[in-house]
Amino acid sequence: MLMTVSTIILAAGKGTRMKSPRPKILHKIAGKYLIGFCVELAKRIKSKETIVVVGEEHKKVTKNALSDNGIKFCLQKNQLGTGDAVKIAIKNMRIRSKYILVLYGDTPFIKTSTIKKMISKAENGFELVFLGFRSHTKNSYGKFRLGPKGALLDIIEKNKPEYSSSDCLSNSGILLAQSNIIADLIQKIKNVNAKQEYYLTDIVKIAAEQGYTSTYVRCEEDECIGVNSQLELSVAERKFQDNFRKKLLASGVSMPSPETCFFSYDTIIKRGCVIEPYVVFGTGVKIQKSTIIRSYSYIEGTHIGQRCQIGPFARLRPDTHLSDEVKVGNFVEVKNATLNSETKANHLSYIGDAKVGTNTNIGAGTIFCNYDGKNKHSTVVGDNVFVGSNTSLIAPLKIGDASIVAAGSAINRDVPIESLAIARPIQQNKIGLGKKIMLKLQKVADKMKT
Ligand code: UD1
Ligand code: CA
Repeated sequence: MLMTVSTIILAAGKGTRMKSPRPKILHKIAGKYLIGFCVELAKRIKSKETIVVVGEEHKKVTKNALSDNGIKFCLQKNQLGTGDAVKIAIKNMRIRSKYILVLYGDTPFIKTSTIKKMISKAENGFELVFLGFRSHTKNSYGKFRLGPKGALLDIIEKNKPEYSSSDCLSNSGILLAQSNIIADLIQKIKNVNAKQEYYLTDIVKIAAEQGYTSTYVRCEEDECIGVNSQLELSVAERKFQDNFRKKLLASGVSMPSPETCFFSYDTIIKRGCVIEPYVVFGTGVKIQKSTIIRSYSYIEGTHIGQRCQIGPFARLRPDTHLSDEVKVGNFVEVKNATLNSETKANHLSYIGDAKVGTNTNIGAGTIFCNYDGKNKHSTVVGDNVFVGSNTSLIAPLKIGDASIVAAGSAINRDVPIESLAIARPIQQNKIGLGKKIMLKLQKVADKMKT
């Protein structure tokens, strides 16, 4: 059973090492904001109230980016340390939950099950529960000093004289505490250290002095990886992609070269699908069973039905809906368009702002001319239509069921059902004129040589 928890997400740090104009926590992993991972974790544990501590510099963009998530923000004007940030957050909280969970906005991979373990430790009577891990590389994390029976006696930060990076567990920074107790203890943290920062981790010792007990939950290092630089962001991305690929493979999706395919956090691909090498999935993609995505396709914001064939080299842009058994071939771009079942656009086309019916053929080089330079217009093509190659369909336009559009046409008037539309200059054959012109041209060429 989950007890009531409120969540504080620390995100006021400047993120200087990212060397980016964007706030660190608004960089993305698999299409999701870094801080979005913490926000989701808070949702999964049914956090009553979630409050993000932001700095002045990035307050506005962060608020805008996360506006519809039901979370609150509070401002930490000066980055005086993690202890100060938590103090400000608690002051701004409206709901008193039994526990407060502190997450770091730049630490995206903490599992729900880990937080549940922390909650059950707290339920067993520990007032503070930190999350620790065994680090396999040299590092500068805070280090746990442990006592008997899993007691946590202190956390030693790296600039303290007694710091030793040897065999101790490292502090992830994640903390679960009884609300009323942390609210009290947080006031008692002092900034007497080399950096004159208020260290949240000092709370452990203060708690012990007041007769409270602290403990820890241990997780894998992978779960605690934080993002401080572009390199670390890329490491986190790789980690996400590796896991995602494994999950897809395990669910029955074929991928002969998984390491070359890239997914978004929300990509849904049903079993029986084949993803050939070098395919990229932006956000908002859902693909039903047994569809094949051929190499070098780029797909975002698109729903694809069963048994479709996409690519190679297809580009599917947002608001595209493909029903079952649709074919979209090489160098075809589709945007904000619906293609009903068994419709084909196999080569070199642009289909934008359109509804295309069932079993219709869009010939090679068909362009849906949806933009007049100022406004977008839509095109509706019926069922069983044949659009010949190299055709311009100039929107707004309707093409009736079972009609034919002649190749090379520029169509700007609606086509009634079962009609033939042809809109191209009439061909003339002038008998013998070809040969005459050839001879003339040859003469000119000979003259130039001499
Ligand atoms: C902190 C921990 C350390 C732990 C490490 C894990 C403390 C004192 N130390 O150190 O034990 O091993 O994390 O990564 O807590 N932040 C604010 N306001 C501030 C300062 C920080 O919001 O005034 C936010 C940052 O944006 C970041 C998080 O708090 O999300 C951690 O801050 P950071 O300065 O990176 O802490 P570390 O020195 O890494
Ligand atoms: Ca850090």
